Amino acid sequence: MSAIAIDGPAGAGKSTVARAVAEALGWTYVDTGAMYRAVALGALEGGVDLGDVRALVDIAGSLDLDGRASPPDPARLRATDVTRAASTIASVPAVREVLARKQRALARSRDVVMEGRDIGAEVVPEADVKIFLTASPRVRAGRRARQLGRPRDARTITEIEAALVARDEADASRDASPLTIAVDAKVIDSSDLDVDDVVRLVLTELDRATDD
Ligand code: DC
Repeated sequence: MSAIAIDGPAGAGKSTVARAVAEALGWTYVDTGAMYRAVALGALEGGVDLGDVRALVDIAGSLDLDGRASPPDPARLRATDVTRAASTIASVPAVREVLARKQRALARSRDVVMEGRDIGAEVVPEADVKIFLTASPRVRAGRRARQLGRPRDARTITEIEAALVARDEADASRDASPLTIAVDAKVIDSSDLDVDDVVRLVLTELDRATDD
């Protein structure tokens, strides 16, 4: 099986790029952030305390994820409370273990383009191509505002940027699988690139990897 791992901070364009690359190759797109969000939503809806590791692990274990199923309500998964809870839950090693096991099983069973934070470093270290996609905080905040349908005035963007930088810091400084750049990852800064440019760069990396 072949795999492309796309890691990076929130708002760097991972989902858009990963989806387009998967489409171009006919591979399965796997959004691992959605798995953390699904556990968060399950906990919030079930009134589960976010400190109750055993209950969180149960929710994670019961998620039926084949990597293609779209969540029941994608907008709900992106809501602020779910985003915040997902970041908390992502710092729990036992939850990460359960989800990483599911992600590895997916990568073993089919060709995947998998996006997340720890895919190249931890989940699929044998991936054919590892991309670390980033962009400036300002650009990422602008993209996030558009995604959330928020106005794109300077004040809103500054507010979103602050929240995004805070979440990056939490994701990068946690003990369990912090956001890191895999040593063999290709770093792409998408601040001044459009989606097609980035997709082309990723596909070029795959050509290069498979030519070796
Ligand atoms: O990519 P996203 O914003 O949907 O991710 C939601 C949260 O899950 C975010 O706080 C980062 C975390 N996450 C993670 O720790 N590891 C992953 N492989 C994917 C997401």
